[in-house]
Amino acid sequence: MSRCAHAAAPIGVFDSGVGGLSVLRALRAELPQEDFVYLSDAAHAPYGERTDDYVNARALRVADYLVAQHGVKTLVVACNTATAAAIHTLRERWPSLPIVGVEPALKPAAAASRTKVVGVMATRSTLQSAKFKTLLDKLQGQARFVLQACDGLAGAIESGEAGTAELLCARYVQAMGGFGAMDGQIDQLVLGCTHYPLVGDLLQNLVGPHTTLLEAGPPVSQQTRRVLEQAGLLLPQGIAGTTRLLSTGNTAALGGSALRWLGLGMPVVSAQPDPHG
Ligand code: DGL
Repeated sequence: MSRCAHAAAPIGVFDSGVGGLSVLRALRAELPQEDFVYLSDAAHAPYGERTDDYVNARALRVADYLVAQHGVKTLVVACNTATAAAIHTLRERWPSLPIVGVEPALKPAAAASRTKVVGVMATRSTLQSAKFKTLLDKLQGQARFVLQACDGLAGAIESGEAGTAELLCARYVQAMGGFGAMDGQIDQLVLGCTHYPLVGDLLQNLVGPHTTLLEAGPPVSQQTRRVLEQAGLLLPQGIAGTTRLLSTGNTAALGGSALRWLGLGMPVVSAQPDPHG
């Protein structure tokens, strides 16, 4: 499908729910002059315990809506699960649209690790994906990776169940083993799901001060700047951009999370990417 993008068009960002707000936060800091349309596919969250086909179909539907209805100039897939399952399909469908995905920061974690033990928390679907396995294979020998599928954690964060999120974080951190700067301990913890930085303080308390948490927001926002520059679509500095928030599900939940984590107090619009839904 061909399309003609304009620098003045917004950047589309989507996730299964509120997790992508952790990426939007970094994008707004890196590119304050740009307009953003953020879509939470909350009616279909969580993605992380669904099949690849399901996530692929949702990502296509949501991206189609952002392209057709909002004329986005680039797409940021602010979801590790959707990136692993669908980024190739999205790129095939819109070959001329810059599309930026998110992947767990294994490479920088291995490079920064002194103990050479790296923890990775992600959804089961991300850890089982071919894309993740290829990434892991490339880094064999550079560190030992301790992988933890965090069933239920994105869902608990999504629905604001703080008690459940605390319980699950404690359980998964304990299951991964020792954290710290000593030999054999995990000194880098990769947050391989965009929901997890939203409980970053809690995780940092659990793993202690000698383990660094790595999240996707900053590298993804820098990559977005690079692709916009290359495409000649970056707006000049100095203009204050806008942000619009859309949800296919509970609009109040996204509004509450945006206020809490981004200080963004604004109405959330109900979006219906589905023809009959
Ligand atoms: N935030 C998403 C990710 O980065 C998906 C979480 C979910 O919906 O399970 O993987």
